[in-house]
Amino acid sequence: MSHELSRREFALSAVAAGTAMAAQTSAGVLGANERLQVGVIGVGNRGRELQDALKAIPEAKITALCDVYDPFLQAAKDDLGGNVATYKDYRKLIESKDVDAVVIGTPDHWHALQFVDACNAGKDVYVEKPLSLTVKEGRIMCDVAKKTGRVTQVGTHRRSSKMYAKAAELVRSGHIGHVSVANCYHLQNETPMGMGKPADSAPPPGLDWDLWLGPAPKVPYNRNRCLYRFRWFYEYSGGQLTNFGTHYLDIIQWALGQNAPKAVMAMGGKYAVQDNREIPDTMQVVWQYDGCIVTFSQYNANSAAGNPPHAETEFRGTLATLYTGYRGCTIEPQRVRYREIPFKDPRDRKGSNGQYGALKPSGVEKSEIKGGATNVDHVRNWVECVKARKECSAPVEVGHRSTSATLIGNIALKRGKVLEWDAQAERFTNDDKANEMLFYQYRKPWKLA
Ligand SMILES: NC(=O)c1ccc[n+]([C@@H]2O[C@H](COP(=O)([O-])OP(=O)(O)OC[C@H]3O[C@@H](n4cnc5c(N)ncnc54)[C@H](O)[C@@H]3O)[C@@H](O)[C@H]2O)c1
Repeated sequence: MSHELSRREFALSAVAAGTAMAAQTSAGVLGANERLQVGVIGVGNRGRELQDALKAIPEAKITALCDVYDPFLQAAKDDLGGNVATYKDYRKLIESKDVDAVVIGTPDHWHALQFVDACNAGKDVYVEKPLSLTVKEGRIMCDVAKKTGRVTQVGTHRRSSKMYAKAAELVRSGHIGHVSVANCYHLQNETPMGMGKPADSAPPPGLDWDLWLGPAPKVPYNRNRCLYRFRWFYEYSGGQLTNFGTHYLDIIQWALGQNAPKAVMAMGGKYAVQDNREIPDTMQVVWQYDGCIVTFSQYNANSAAGNPPHAETEFRGTLATLYTGYRGCTIEPQRVRYREIPFKDPRDRKGSNGQYGALKPSGVEKSEIKGGATNVDHVRNWVECVKARKECSAPVEVGHRSTSATLIGNIALKRGKVLEWDAQAERFTNDDKANEMLFYQYRKPWKLA
């Protein structure tokens, strides 16, 4: 028997020896010029974007691919010139000694299982947002990552953007004054027919529908429940609130310097789009943070844009409003009062300032921060941190907190009441039924190790 451990064996033995040691393992064993061997699980819409990002990073090399839908797996393999191992069952990919780290681009209901299995196998992980389908899964993912000493990145890629970092820093530092309101939007007119109402049918050739469902309840195949469109069904996703909302709440929590709300309420329903979706086409969520309320507006029956049109998120400060969007960030100054609001006798008809008195510029300049966010920057941050055994820009704990805020918004909608949130205990303090929604029973034989 050889006394020389392979790179992978050494990493695994070190993980077994404990977290502190594990934190140095892969870094120690991956030489500065060695390429990180990456396996991609789920090569649909997002998986292929992440595959493109990995191809642009010389320090990484894709050695394995996995998907339960053969045509997508074949297309991803062809894209790499065919020189890559392929799997239908992610557990086999995770076992491979030619895989140091995995990228998870599967639907949300798979994230927890695949992430936990990968960590336990000693692989570092990049997992797409939203981190999980339920809050409890997210907490388990954080605990397992910590215990196994894995380097993790959640796909909230705005965290690796200089523009978003600058915007968050300006808000946190008080540049725009006290921010008492932050709003974010998902606007898209999908009326009248949305995705339509296709009948249940046999799955398309090459799709393992049972493996696609995994821990979710067994139901007949329906085109709208599967590729990409799973977002509109609660058994696989939290809808647009967790899909887009996690990106936005991530920026908002970062900018406010807070990692959780104290309370949440939501209203909405399926009012206008006539398809077989479960999630609302119209929804408004309100969170209470320290000194600030935050809202998410999901309007899928009207798409009229806000101000400026590209903005996804707005921070309303006492001195200025800061808008962030995928194509830039703008700061619009406020005009402010410089003395107490005077009492004006209504019999005095002179002057034009009514009861409120004159305003003056706040002193904040109108300005723009150019830029956006790219997948390559975020994936590169992960690859570099894996090699250096450093914390990424969006580690699992951060992704968990950003995802949790949105997940509890969906619970508030289902419960139809204001829910108080104990962020430390990750439980509601005023509704036992809501606490039951923090996890769901997996379909056998799936369970979180
Ligand atoms: N960060 C971002 O901006 C961003 C953008 C798009 C999607 N996403 C996230 O990426 C994830 C995937 O979304 P999508 O739009 O790519 O969906 P998709 O349906 O296009 O792709 C998912 C792929 O996973 C495969 N899959 C399902 N179960 C699997 C399993 N057990 N093992 C291996 N493969 C499996 C499917 O066959 C499919 O090819 C979602 O969580 C979504 O929220 C993130």
